[in-house]
Amino acid sequence: MSTNIHTEFHRFLNRHDKEVLLGQKGLAIWMCGLSGSGKSTIANATERVLHQQGRYTIILDGDNIRSGLNNNLSFSDQDRLENIRRIAEIAKILIANGAIVFISAITPRGELRDLARGIIGEENLLEVYVQASFEACQKRDVKGLYAKAAKGEIANFTGQASSFEPPQFPDITLDTEVLSVEEAAIELVEKALPRIARE
Ligand code: ADX
Repeated sequence: MSTNIHTEFHRFLNRHDKEVLLGQKGLAIWMCGLSGSGKSTIANATERVLHQQGRYTIILDGDNIRSGLNNNLSFSDQDRLENIRRIAEIAKILIANGAIVFISAITPRGELRDLARGIIGEENLLEVYVQASFEACQKRDVKGLYAKAAKGEIANFTGQASSFEPPQFPDITLDTEVLSVEEAAIELVEKALPRIARE
């Protein structure tokens, strides 16, 4: 497949040079969980805290990426895999440039999280489970998707026609039925800091 491709990585400035400039270490903070569990909200709140502390951060949000780069993908198992593969490959590039990257994508199955881990590398990844039950997300229904899914208007809806397997060994679980957004952000910052501080 990659015959005739001659990558240029070795000639470019390396990750260490970028990290020194930024005064941080690159890291992927991968937030998985049901739609409406609070992934984007917590990523947003945590990014703001880190930004105020002088960190360079980027959010890769499932909905946003599906509205652009991945707008040719559905919610079939195969397309979810391709969605996650592309997001992980982008995250890998950004981390190699010293960024702290939040990924907020449902990432519903172990197979998908393994794929992301394989691309990004265990050493560059903080796996976060944003936990809230299907019923709690259904009650919140911020985007109105749970109501539509109940009427059978959304194919392969996660937690309904398409399964969600909670991660077995996440680095951190944030239970959003218990924690406020601010509390979750504080916990996440604490967990991430040792991984992003240069010394
Ligand atoms: S993933 O499973 O491939 O990781 P991703 O996070 O990119 O999903 O996209 C999920 C978002 O797409 C949800 O937050 C929701 O707004 C929207 N969405 C649309 N259709 C579905 C569906 N069938 N299942 C889940 N989310 C859906």
